[in-house]
Amino acid sequence: MTIPELQKCKREKRKIILVTAYDALFTRIIEEAGIEAILVGDSLGVVVQGKANTLSVTMEDMLYHTKLVTGAARRALVIGDMPFMSYQASQEDALRNAGRFLQAGAAAVKLEGGAAVVDRVAAMTRVGIPVMGHLGMTPQSVHAFGGYKVQGKGKDRAQQLVADAQALEAAGAFAIVLEAIPAEVAKSMTDAVAIPTIGIGAGPYCDGQVLVLYDLLGLFDEFVPKFVKPYAHLKADALQALRRYKEEVEGGKFPTDSESYH
Ligand code: KIV
Repeated sequence: MTIPELQKCKREKRKIILVTAYDALFTRIIEEAGIEAILVGDSLGVVVQGKANTLSVTMEDMLYHTKLVTGAARRALVIGDMPFMSYQASQEDALRNAGRFLQAGAAAVKLEGGAAVVDRVAAMTRVGIPVMGHLGMTPQSVHAFGGYKVQGKGKDRAQQLVADAQALEAAGAFAIVLEAIPAEVAKSMTDAVAIPTIGIGAGPYCDGQVLVLYDLLGLFDEFVPKFVKPYAHLKADALQALRRYKEEVEGGKFPTDSESYH
């Protein structure tokens, strides 16, 4: 999947399917399932590293996981998520760090914010680094929002989000993630731009959908937002398997002769 192919999906009204991944094993499974776009999300801070939010994730963490994913991906478009403070402090930081994602094999980067980051988006786009925007409940601003709350409620805030989407498009973003936004507002944003919108908690009118892999597999259940649909219950399966393994070793039922060498 290339960026022009992803953008063509909007014109041809085919839904874009994006999912997060952090390692080689799941990258292969995702590709086997026919999914062609992968985000190495800074959500790894929560689902892999066990932190309360994404703020402590570093460039080194992101590059390590990006390399695991790009090393395994054969067809998927891999997008690297720029972590907190990798692009906020200066244009130079932003450019250098974005470039490091491409050197790690990603085809594009994602960063959070609207009008405040359009100069970053324009600078990256100018040097050939494709950028995906991220609007709405941007997790790196969790403290400014006072928690994980739906954004864009009320006419003024909704209009601001539409303006932000248009500003990102004008700056050269190739797509925008819309997170935790009322479905009607996400529709207005989707209609207002020619680039694809990819929703997470933003209703059905977006050009595509993204979910955090461990949420959709039912592996992570510490905090399950309303917009998550677990398509499997792998935590329950893992628990059952581990308990059985423990019981069987304790009861002398594993290993048997068939699991032994002679
Ligand atoms: O980090 C992440 O996984 C994300 C998605 C929720 C879009 O930004």
